[in-house]
Amino acid sequence: MKTLVVDHPLVAHKLTTLRDVRTDSPTFRRLADELVTLLAYEATRDVRVTEATVDTPVAPAHGVRLARPAPLVVPILRAGLGMLDGMTRLLPTAEVGFLGMIRDEGTLKAQTYATRLPEDLSGRQCYVLDPMLATGGTLAAAIELLFARGAEDVTAICLLAAPEGLAYMEKVFAGSEAPVRVVTAALDERLNELGYIVPGLGDAGDRLYG
Ligand code: PRP
Repeated sequence: MKTLVVDHPLVAHKLTTLRDVRTDSPTFRRLADELVTLLAYEATRDVRVTEATVDTPVAPAHGVRLARPAPLVVPILRAGLGMLDGMTRLLPTAEVGFLGMIRDEGTLKAQTYATRLPEDLSGRQCYVLDPMLATGGTLAAAIELLFARGAEDVTAICLLAAPEGLAYMEKVFAGSEAPVRVVTAALDERLNELGYIVPGLGDAGDRLYG
């Protein structure tokens, strides 16, 4: 598994305001949206393309187009939904699938309550959207589900990750032949006793949707 912590002053600036407890919900939504577009730029560095030629008004030019089948973008409900527009702004032809997952706040185990994905993901590149990678249970379960349907590789885009969650993901996908990548705006210090990321930004779902 590969992890990329995006080191960019604009990402750090927007994330700082996002973390601020005084940031209201409309501003939080807008910043989350903007951050995802910046992260998506890095996360799509390995997106598959095919060579193409177009005619400019002057002469033929060689270039590339996104390969078929189109990538699949999967926001994990609820909080991941706040990242969808920012992602599809960069990948407008992507197909979108949905996963509804909730973490039991007692056991910290993830439960899946909704799945709306193509049955066959053979040969598909997938991008999973979830703002918080805390224990890693939610993201690992989501990626395992995509691999079970044949996904070729999976890149997760997160706003924040905890070291404990990344270590768990490393363990789960250590033997995975299919590539797994995590792209995040920051790697925080730790999880607290409630399983919240410290310093984090609180509950992303609540801050987005109340
Ligand atoms: C949060 C977050 C992740 C998950 C992270 O969702 O958005 O999906 O917890 O925790 P983990 O890494 O320990 O599994 P939550 O379960 O609060 O649901 P919500 O998005 O509907 O608020």
